[in-house]
Amino acid sequence: MQQVLTYLEANRDRYLIELKEFLAIPSVSSQTDHAKDMRRCAEWIAQELQKIGMQNIQILDTPGHPVVFGEWLGASGKPTVLLYGHYDVQPVDPVDLWTTPPFEATIRDGNLYARGSTDDKGQVFAHFKALEAYMKNGGSLPMNVKIIVEGEEEIGSDHLDDFVKDHKDLLKADLVLISDSDMFAKGVPSVCYALRGLSYMEIEVTGPNGDLHSGTFGGTVHNPIQALTEMIASLHDKNGRITIPGFYDDVQPLTKAERQAFKKLPWNDKKYAKSLGVKELYGEKGFSSIERRWARPTLECNGIWGGYTGEGAKTVLPSKAYAKISMRIVPNQSSEKVAKLFEKHLKRIAPKTIALKVRNLHGGEPAITPVDSPGVKAAVAALERGFGKKPLYQREGGSIPIVVQFKKLLGIDTVLLGIGLEEGNAHAPNEYIDLNNFFGGIRTFAHFYNELPKFWEASRKKR
Ligand code: BES
Ligand code: MN
Ligand code: MN
Repeated sequence: MQQVLTYLEANRDRYLIELKEFLAIPSVSSQTDHAKDMRRCAEWIAQELQKIGMQNIQILDTPGHPVVFGEWLGASGKPTVLLYGHYDVQPVDPVDLWTTPPFEATIRDGNLYARGSTDDKGQVFAHFKALEAYMKNGGSLPMNVKIIVEGEEEIGSDHLDDFVKDHKDLLKADLVLISDSDMFAKGVPSVCYALRGLSYMEIEVTGPNGDLHSGTFGGTVHNPIQALTEMIASLHDKNGRITIPGFYDDVQPLTKAERQAFKKLPWNDKKYAKSLGVKELYGEKGFSSIERRWARPTLECNGIWGGYTGEGAKTVLPSKAYAKISMRIVPNQSSEKVAKLFEKHLKRIAPKTIALKVRNLHGGEPAITPVDSPGVKAAVAALERGFGKKPLYQREGGSIPIVVQFKKLLGIDTVLLGIGLEEGNAHAPNEYIDLNNFFGGIRTFAHFYNELPKFWEASRKKR
């Protein structure tokens, strides 16, 4: 182990050079003009897996972007970890708000700035370096590992379910390990045990059969933008609760113990509001900010458009208006059921003056994993060694839908060991990874691979 840690320290500069190369590939999954970059990125990973000593490396095609696979299974009798991550990134718009170009990784103030630096290429790459350190110092790992890196996470992992179903044997493992989330705060390491799910909807409102002169026709026709915004405004009541009938029916209430545990976390509403540039926070009455972010369902309008939005003024009563609305859901809500409730409710409240279309774009289920598992215990021990501090337990507001699918299709639990920061601008301009987190992460992952077999063995003996 000491040899591995010494190696990690000695190779820091090289890691940054290699990571910059990985981040230079614009692997934006949602934009078709980047299809070639997606493949190039998959090939880069395959080559990297080769270099760090993995075996049976494959680039596996899906109807969408390819999945990269690799493994090392030389530790017989030891547990097998399935390491999952994604190489696709979000679009970079608005690109003028980046201080340095999104695909030219740049270090400023101890952070590495680039699209994908934290979500998720930087975190995936940190694992590669932990594995490499073992392979270059003795040529073996303390446990077995299988690796899949997918290219469609940011667009809903549409083809991953089928991929997992079709490759059950190839992916057979004892637990899943994912680093694609945040630590509690800078300098405060944490393990994450729950994620919210998601239902993502789009609505189209049609008024008159074509755009109209707003002077000639205004006053006789219900403006579809007005109709749409009236409907959206009615989706929350004055207590910040969602008004869709039945929406909260399946929500698992927080236990007293969990509410107590959340209260003990280092948190300050005022500081939080200030950091976001808002005068006051908003949310469901009766719950703390932490509760509302991690364990309560929410509804957000992600975008709204229609009519004239170009330069200057144009008087028009538009024919159409649109909105994208997402709902974050918590255990035991189902994304399918919530989508249906949403559609039914919107159809019920739609005024007779307009026509309404509701589409369900994608969904994912909420996840909660047991904290007394050997995987989580190994993660706690690893974080303590990697960051020199006992980690906290936390949930997350974001979603990684594949976590539940791994449980359903492969029967295995996931350990969420993220090294991002919520202020790291994931999905926004100037995304970065804190370099202390990056190097601390590599150390932590190296420790995790070493600790897991011990905790695994201990829990096997108990059973
Ligand atoms: N890495 C994020 C998920 C995440 C972020 C988990 C922060 C925990 C903390 C992931 O890449 C992501 O962006 N997921 C999407 C869901 C997906 C279905 C598009 C999300 O949460 O919006
Ligand atoms: Mn991610
Ligand atoms: Mn993301």
